[in-house]
Amino acid sequence: MADEAALERLADRALAALEHAYAPYSGFRVGAALLMPDGSMASGANVENASYPAGLCAERAALGAAVSAGAREFVAVAIASEADHPTPPCGICRQALVEFAPALTVVSVTRGGARAVWSLDSLLPHAFTPKSLRDRK
Ligand code: THU
Repeated sequence: MADEAALERLADRALAALEHAYAPYSGFRVGAALLMPDGSMASGANVENASYPAGLCAERAALGAAVSAGAREFVAVAIASEADHPTPPCGICRQALVEFAPALTVVSVTRGGARAVWSLDSLLPHAFTPKSLRDRK
């Protein structure tokens, strides 16, 4: 688990990324930031589309940026929204994240200062992972 100061910096990165969200259809702006073991961070925002299913969540935008820059291991993800309550990651994002980090710390914050912390394995128990594929007969 990342230390508290690191999680706070990560949450600040997610709040900054939220400012770049493109969410004209839902109006639900989200930012996300991933923390790597060396302390570096990558961030992303949700990117919606007129063809609604083509939209991308902030967590997967951040994951795409991080993996594209060479990262493969993650310590924590922060999610920032303007909702009243901290938003948990959607199911697709849980699956995308578990590929790289089954024990990921998930911290979610709101603009208003609310905060929740989960572990990814509690949000997505019995996950299908690369090991599940290797176990095939
Ligand atoms: N969204 C995220 O980016 N992350 C979440 O954790 C929840 C949902 C986005 C997807 C869509 O653009 C908008 O929020 C409403 O669902």
